[in-house]
Amino acid sequence: MKKNIPVIKNQQYVLNIDSSGYEGEGIGKVQDFTVFVPGAMPGEEVTAKIVKVNKNFAFGKLLKVITPSKNRVEPICSLYKKCGGCQLQHFSYEAQLEFKKQRVKDCLERIGKLSVKLYEDNLNYDKDIMNKDNTVILYDTIGMENPYNYRNKVQLPVGKEKGEVSIGFYAKRSHQIINMNTCAIQNKESDLILKIIKDWMNGYEIEPYDERSGTGNVRHVMIRKGFKTNEIMVVIVTNSREFPHKDELVETLINEIKSVKSIVQNINMKKTNVILGQECRTIWGNDYISDYIGDFKFNISPLSFFQVNPVQTKMLYDTALKYANLTGSEIVFDAYCGTGTISLFLSKMARKVYGVEIIPEAIYNARINAVQNGVKNVEFIVGESEKVIPDLVNRGVNADVIVVDPPRKGCDRKLLDTIAIMKPKTVVYVSCDPSTLARDLNILGASGYKAVKAQPVDMFPQTAHVETIVLMSRVEGK
Ligand SMILES: C[S@@+](CC[C@H](N)C(=O)[O-])C[C@H]1O[C@@H](n2cnc3c(N)ncnc32)[C@H](O)[C@@H]1O
Repeated sequence: MKKNIPVIKNQQYVLNIDSSGYEGEGIGKVQDFTVFVPGAMPGEEVTAKIVKVNKNFAFGKLLKVITPSKNRVEPICSLYKKCGGCQLQHFSYEAQLEFKKQRVKDCLERIGKLSVKLYEDNLNYDKDIMNKDNTVILYDTIGMENPYNYRNKVQLPVGKEKGEVSIGFYAKRSHQIINMNTCAIQNKESDLILKIIKDWMNGYEIEPYDERSGTGNVRHVMIRKGFKTNEIMVVIVTNSREFPHKDELVETLINEIKSVKSIVQNINMKKTNVILGQECRTIWGNDYISDYIGDFKFNISPLSFFQVNPVQTKMLYDTALKYANLTGSEIVFDAYCGTGTISLFLSKMARKVYGVEIIPEAIYNARINAVQNGVKNVEFIVGESEKVIPDLVNRGVNADVIVVDPPRKGCDRKLLDTIAIMKPKTVVYVSCDPSTLARDLNILGASGYKAVKAQPVDMFPQTAHVETIVLMSRVEGK
């Protein structure tokens, strides 16, 4: 039977917004039909114009907020409505943290089939809830004291608008560059560096790369900053080996910003959306900058991966270490280990840590990081976690504790099956997608693991990204 669709494209409707979607968009109903309204918030009455109608839902453009939510704030960025970088700037920070907790709760209940108990100070969890089979305690999201200017990496395309060089994020769902002079989530020095680069390009008539015609030279600018060391790296991505007037750029940058320690040309001559090419030439200063997470020092080169919010990364890794509850005698596996940052944190309290990662360059960096920090009880292995870890188990190497930090698609089923066979006493799951996290907790639940606690950590304030860390314990006798 054909479903009755009660909304018509281009017509306006008054909606009561009762919840938020995964990107922070408001959700309301016309009769029983769902309408997503980006920019609207739960508790609001709004007018929206329908812009797209699908079989089961529609999208509306917010025209007017009739009754604003008490959680609505004025976005601090004047480009917020156009730019695709942030999604939650119109939420107060408390409401952002609550949104992220609710998102985790919803996934754990709906997809993970878990019963979620919100943490309250005065409950005796050990006796009361911890023993109930499918009840997990969900903590408040760990937020930042200052949820702005937290990114240690800026990576922006370069283009031209009305004859002037423009550098900024792409507009939502497009490749149109929104020129920006300042950004609420990038580190503050970037504003001046971007201005210097724009003035240099305008002054010497240096052409930005045009992705349609493949002409022009400067494609992207990347700026990295060590938050503890204050060291800055500037990377100019070019479409050729030529770099005209580079000495003038270097001179201005090092004279005006004393913390610049490295200036690099990255060459990317391919017609591709991938930002960086493989070839780097240091044109001034060092090949890398350094920074710390906790007591560990890391070298950051243009191509190496490093978490973008170092303040919250420390919170995340401290929580992983606490959940792992190591005594010094344990063998630990760190699956999907990247450059081995979690492995190093765990190594302080473990007998031995095995880090497994698919990208050879990341393992190369991980080994350097271990040597640089004098850590001897870690071994890094290149390969797929779902192949390397079963191999280790077959060779008789079993983990007491396993930490997994997979990409958004979650853990490979073969890895989860190996965990069920290996039976480590603890699984610590670090996740950047609550939906796949919940799916995997459900699978591990069926093989004898109880999800004990879940802790969201706000790694990306002002955006809808949700990071969660979960402690799972092996249930005796299962
Ligand atoms: C979310 S990152 C975690 C990085 C690291 N734990 C950290 O905190 O910096 C996920 C990592 O998993 C790696 N990866 C993806 N698929 C993999 C697989 N099948 N086996 C091992 N590593 C994989 C990615 O290259 C990436 O470095």
